[in-house]
Amino acid sequence: MAVVQQQGLLCSEWLKKPKKLLIDGNWVDAESGKTFETYNPATDEVLTKVAEGSKADVDKAVRAARKAFESGPWSKMATHERARLLYRLADEIEKRADEFAQIETLDNGKPIKESRWVDVVQVVETFRYYAGWCTKLEGETTNVNSNFFTYTLREPIGVIGQIIPWNFPLLMAAWKLGPALACGNTVILKPAEQTPLTAIRLGELIMEVGFPAGVVNIITGFGANSAGEAISNHMDIDKVAFTGEDKTGKEIVKASTGNLKRVSLELGGKAPNIVFADADLDAAVKGAITGIFFNQGQVCCAGSRLFIENSVHDEFMTKLTERVGKMRQGNGMDEKTQIGPQISKEQVERIMHYVGEGKKDGAKLVCGGERPQGELAKGYFVQPTIFDGVNNDMKIAQEEIFGPVLSVIPFNTMEEVAEQANKIQFGLSGAVWTRDLKRAHKLASHIKAGTIWINCFNVFDPQMPFGGYKMSGYGRELGKHSIELYTNIKSVWVNLAD
Ligand code: NAI
Ligand code: MG
Repeated sequence: MAVVQQQGLLCSEWLKKPKKLLIDGNWVDAESGKTFETYNPATDEVLTKVAEGSKADVDKAVRAARKAFESGPWSKMATHERARLLYRLADEIEKRADEFAQIETLDNGKPIKESRWVDVVQVVETFRYYAGWCTKLEGETTNVNSNFFTYTLREPIGVIGQIIPWNFPLLMAAWKLGPALACGNTVILKPAEQTPLTAIRLGELIMEVGFPAGVVNIITGFGANSAGEAISNHMDIDKVAFTGEDKTGKEIVKASTGNLKRVSLELGGKAPNIVFADADLDAAVKGAITGIFFNQGQVCCAGSRLFIENSVHDEFMTKLTERVGKMRQGNGMDEKTQIGPQISKEQVERIMHYVGEGKKDGAKLVCGGERPQGELAKGYFVQPTIFDGVNNDMKIAQEEIFGPVLSVIPFNTMEEVAEQANKIQFGLSGAVWTRDLKRAHKLASHIKAGTIWINCFNVFDPQMPFGGYKMSGYGRELGKHSIELYTNIKSVWVNLAD
């Protein structure tokens, strides 16, 4: 645990404390007494041990959440008080932004600048945004006819299970908890087994700022045959919200059928990032890099299929490879690092498998494609990798790699690229780089995806909805649309007839 002794580490004492489950306002060991280790992906060192929750713990958490929902202080709390708790939580996270960023980078590997200035900032803003919604949830009155007074109530759904991934651990917790709590639900949150730490720290603050016991329960642990599955098939959970792999999404839908719980899914992507010859090429090069290498390519909306108009292909590729060649890869705790390690050995293997597939299918490897040697060899690093001359039908263009591997697909006409952009099972996002407004808007409406960026990439705000078409999932998170995910509408009929 060499990293724990590092100077200036705000979380070194915290890391040494036991990491337990949050159930009914108490930090408890798993019923089984089991724990699991969480690693620093930059060094392959164990950071700490964490309680391994399973079905018995999920059952306890659901009982606590049910009580808090039906009869506890949560159901009786005024909406402005609920709002105040969420605002207070945002303030407390903001005060500890550096500490949260360090924990995130140690556990996930991402560059500290991104943890601090992207993840944590967005987390704070997400909680603030949803704090505002607490006091703005409304039903409607309607005029059916004079014999009836009719109105609708917007009510929380109840007990919510939230299963989140490892690529943006704290941010995904905020996207899930913010709207669920604003709407008055209670929650069982399961962070990914690779990155449990920031959720635990968040749970501590949730209790410190005064959320009543049982409103937020945090069960660290695994997915299949374990805590994740116990959530998705639980008969007393009213809704599951999931972010992760499409295969897992399907399992969750199947597991939901016992009580037909509501399900919302945010799954994978294989976004087309389309560069026309008339675009600001320097901006597009930067956008292509952000599109695929941000967060080591572990982004569901990553611009992993880069379509470049043939007439500027060579010029673009020269600029792109030059910049990528200068990217600093290293330990995320180093302020100068631009690209960190992947999350796990499994992910490194998956990525290297796809690099092999790309070569086999005849794509041209123009940079990367190896694991770095020397100092970085002990961590889970993969060099930023670019394949040129890719065909949209190749495996590396069709399947989600979830790593720093870019497939460059040259094209000649708008019609051709428009067709290929949609020839994919996913539909999470897409981007278009052009100075031609008509073309930009036409493609924005043509591409079957939940988010389109025009002359930008990876821009986010809690106000803007995010979610998928096709196999990228269903439901929209963020914005007012996630209120739909966490409320039921009830129609009330009052007979006024004499
Ligand atoms: P995963 O989808 O299996 O894991 C995500 C979460 O689901 C974790 O909390 C995990 O414990 C839980 N889980 C796993 N199996 C479950 C089950 N049967 N029932 C309930 N919960 C379950 O993703 P994994 O295996 O970590 O990564 C594999 C691939 O998934 C990646 O290579 C990437 O392509 C994709 N992925 C996509 C993400 C996205 O944001 N869309 C995020 C993470 C992974
Ligand atoms: Mg999995």
